[in-house]
Amino acid sequence: MTVEINKEDIFRLAKKLCETPSPSGFESKIREVLIEEIRDYVDELWIDSMGNLIAKKAGQGEGKVMIAAHMDEIGLMITNIDKNGFLRFVPVGGWSPRILPAQRVLIRTIDGNTVHGVIGIKPPHIEKSEERQKVIPLENLFIDIGVTSDEEAKKLGIEVGSIAVIESTVERLGNPDVITGRAFDDKIGVVTAVETLKVLEDSKVDAYFVFTVQEEVGLKGARTAAFSINPDIGIAIDVTIAADVPGTPEHAKIVKLGKGPAIKVMDGRAGSGLIAHPAIRDLLIAVAKEEKIPYQLEVLPGGTTDASAIQITREGIPAGAISIPTRYIHSPIEIVHLEDVTNAVKLLAKAIKKVDSAWINNVLRRRIK
Ligand code: CO
Ligand code: ZN
Repeated sequence: MTVEINKEDIFRLAKKLCETPSPSGFESKIREVLIEEIRDYVDELWIDSMGNLIAKKAGQGEGKVMIAAHMDEIGLMITNIDKNGFLRFVPVGGWSPRILPAQRVLIRTIDGNTVHGVIGIKPPHIEKSEERQKVIPLENLFIDIGVTSDEEAKKLGIEVGSIAVIESTVERLGNPDVITGRAFDDKIGVVTAVETLKVLEDSKVDAYFVFTVQEEVGLKGARTAAFSINPDIGIAIDVTIAADVPGTPEHAKIVKLGKGPAIKVMDGRAGSGLIAHPAIRDLLIAVAKEEKIPYQLEVLPGGTTDASAIQITREGIPAGAISIPTRYIHSPIEIVHLEDVTNAVKLLAKAIKKVDSAWINNVLRRRIK
């Protein structure tokens, strides 16, 4: 089956996935959407005991490549309903408290329905001048769902442990190839993996596309999936910071929007995340050059991806990553360039096709005697 990589398809799928809430640990809805999206393109498809969705695209059996893209997104969890019906919450994943005040939220009820709410904020009229300069700590924030008692909130199906996300739709910006929305981290990576499995054919290796759970709370799904698949290499597809915005000094603009997918060299503070396996990094660079795909080299000073969990599974699994340049990560207004996504699909598909038993046994690892 030959499928063209098409920016319209990418936009449509990004919109569908981003507008399906999937906070860490609560990925069931998006998983069902993905099953329908990919079932006709893969040879085997299953959900493992952690909740990861795994799609196998069979090649000629010369080895195994695992592609990981996380289905989960950061969210909020309700911890308390006060007697006036206001909700308190804790973060699930890495929120900055700067982002949250004055946002709309979508709360999932016990029966899977959605309740709209807002994170309340004091009007400037009654704000003290020192308050104006300060970030409101997370524990002082609350969600208003427009009810007046805890009974009313509970009747709607909200309880301790109910999960929420910020409300946000996917839209095109002034440049129609530049889109904005919530949870591009990592639904844009999921889109990249989905489009890649659609175009991939005749690979020497079997490709396992894993849509992982609970990345944002400790890279959990990727770790267990890597153990069970036991691949020769792992490649994570995730977002990275495009810092090419006002206020960033020129020397700190490592990755830029629209300049091509980023090939991971290192991430995490002082390399505490991943130092990409040199053979994988070099393979991706060589493929990008050969195929004239624009690319950037990525060193991310904080944060990491599923690749760092894969790398230290079993006796060690060589890992690397392709990153989609993204502005304003972990906010409801993330931005990506559709050209970067199409180029990431091309790079990933061509790279998987380059992997064969000779590369695995002579370049990736080597027996001396
Ligand atoms: Co993230
Ligand atoms: Zn991510």
